[in-house]
Amino acid sequence: MNETIKEKDWVLLYFNKKRHYIYRVTETKVNLNEGIVHLDKLLGKRYGDIEKTHLGVPFRILKPTIMDIILEKFTRKTQVIYPKDLGYIILKAGIGPGSNVLEAGTGSGVLTAIIANFVRPNGKVLTFEIRKDLYELAIKNIKKLGLETYVRFHQADIREAEIDTDIDAIILDLPDPWNVICKISHFLKIGGRIICFLPTINQIEKTYLALKEKGFIMIEASELLERKYELKKNAIRPKTLMRGHTGYIISAVKLLHI
Ligand SMILES: C[S@@+](CC[C@H](N)C(=O)[O-])C[C@H]1O[C@@H](n2cnc3c(N)ncnc32)[C@H](O)[C@@H]1O
Repeated sequence: MNETIKEKDWVLLYFNKKRHYIYRVTETKVNLNEGIVHLDKLLGKRYGDIEKTHLGVPFRILKPTIMDIILEKFTRKTQVIYPKDLGYIILKAGIGPGSNVLEAGTGSGVLTAIIANFVRPNGKVLTFEIRKDLYELAIKNIKKLGLETYVRFHQADIREAEIDTDIDAIILDLPDPWNVICKISHFLKIGGRIICFLPTINQIEKTYLALKEKGFIMIEASELLERKYELKKNAIRPKTLMRGHTGYIISAVKLLHI
């Protein structure tokens, strides 16, 4: 049976393919084109239930995914990583419940939130952001998901990080990982994974050389292309427009104690 909705849970109010809205269940009411919805009246209902607005327009209460909430409710002030790349990064880094992950830069906190969601309930993300405004924004964003207990936020240059925890994985989404790897790779356990996300191939080359110099093994670079499809009976085909480029991912495994 579907979960009962409690205070502060997130709900996706689904009217039709084009009209759906995400809210947190609080005491407020929302005024939509389809009519007013008193969010507190959803308390005690179950995900999957059908309700109506004050104008009698029916909607289905669905449970949004973490990505639905992030895409709609996070304020994004930096270039963030797309879902296709996020999923690959998590798997490639071997991140799971209990992992301790070192990350930079925090930016808007999208990647931080995804990592935090996977390391629950007893892992941690130690994240570093050099800019004060973005450090504050990421905290605000991640609090919306209630994931802040799994994150240690630092407003600092990651190259100056001082860490007292064994690190299972390092994830870098910043412009010059080659200047960072030499300063922080000693925090990573032997066999631990490092992943860098970079928009240009020139940055990949510099990062590759830095990883090689530090004795990392199994170095791999990838680019993931996602092609979406038009769905119509008897006429299923790729969409005409496609996001041509997001970034490259380079990953490696630590071998040496240096
Ligand atoms: C592309 S954004 C990261 C976006 C982030 N992954 C997200 O999902 O929202 C890169 C961030 O790295 C930060 N940055 C750059 N160099 C840094 C450093 N040495 N230490 C910490 N943060 C750094 C920048 O200020 C910027 O916010």
